[in-house]
Amino acid sequence: MTDELPVAPLSELARRRSAKWRKFPAGVVPLHVAEMDFALAPPVQAALREAVDASDVGYSSAEPELGEAFAGFAAARWGWQLDPASVTAITDVGVGVVELLRVFTRPGDMVAISPPVYPPFFDWTPEAGVRTFEVPLHLDDAGYRLDLPAIERSFQQHPAVYVLSNPHNPVGRAHTADELTALIRLADRYRVVIVSDEIHAPLTLPGATFTPILSLPGAADVAVAVVSASKAFNLAGLKCAAVVTASARMAAAVASFPPDARWRTGHLGAIASIAAFRDGGPWLDQLLHTLDARRTQLATLLRDRLPALSWHPPQATYLAWLDCRKLGDDNPERLFLDRARVGVEPGLHFGAAGAGHVRLNFGTGPHVLDEATARLATALTATS
Ligand SMILES: Cc1ncc(COP(=O)(O)O)c(C=O)c1O
Repeated sequence: MTDELPVAPLSELARRRSAKWRKFPAGVVPLHVAEMDFALAPPVQAALREAVDASDVGYSSAEPELGEAFAGFAAARWGWQLDPASVTAITDVGVGVVELLRVFTRPGDMVAISPPVYPPFFDWTPEAGVRTFEVPLHLDDAGYRLDLPAIERSFQQHPAVYVLSNPHNPVGRAHTADELTALIRLADRYRVVIVSDEIHAPLTLPGATFTPILSLPGAADVAVAVVSASKAFNLAGLKCAAVVTASARMAAAVASFPPDARWRTGHLGAIASIAAFRDGGPWLDQLLHTLDARRTQLATLLRDRLPALSWHPPQATYLAWLDCRKLGDDNPERLFLDRARVGVEPGLHFGAAGAGHVRLNFGTGPHVLDEATARLATALTATS
């Protein structure tokens, strides 16, 4: 039996200066942005300490180590064999996607996305000078999944790119190999490029399987992946991600990024990501075990304390997409904040289908989830 990763008391966590701890007034339990409350993985801490002790904080030069470390990680975790030379460091996933959109689109082009989806998906397209086309996920009793017939209909309108979230934030769906294979066929038939944001891949929880899009037949010429250690190893502020290609066509697209792009990657981010991918496996296993326990705990707390809220437990990520529509309010997050002093991400940030929903981050300790759900239960009882 693996031990769970510990989490400090809220009073200690609140001393952190990152976005998670600055958005709300003191006393609010912040469960909004996707940052976790665990301590850094020991190999990551050691690599960062060594760099600081050696004053090794200049510009980043991540290749070839980043590609080698990621290729080793991808082979060990998912059986994905990739060429380390096909891995290009980039500032973060957002920058990687925007640069890819700039290469694959012309002004006025459309880019398809599937809401409810990570809010910046709506912002990256205008940043690249293109329009967004929404193809919502399909929802039924089994949960959310890609709506392949609707995606086919949207591809008939000739979007230049489809931006995929795999596993999908906020609903935590790890798209299946069959679904991805069908998506690749559609992309090939209608000449749409798939940009696959795979930042949550290392956070695939016990019981589910992550399929890297580039590991599938036919993907190399139509798809490119953007990966990062930052979500699973909690390194968002260090600024390092990578674009992965598997064909000459896609490699040429990445080679045409602005020459300065490579200078914008964080050196400490690259050092931390290399350590994470190379030596972080045992810690990651412990994290996944811990998140699995939090997912179970949250299921129990929702059932016992907050029966008006419903969800489909995620297959990946530490994010819970909570359906609060029974509360009869399109913006339940305001009630949660004002009455319970619990900060969550408003569902409407993820698109119109998010009305009446919130996203709650369970990448924290049992005491924090206990406190947050107790406060919510009291607030909802008082308002009912
Ligand atoms: C799906 C998805 N993509 C990208 C990001 C942000 O990544 P980055 O900070 O590397 O731009 C997040 C952050 O939570 C995310 O959930």
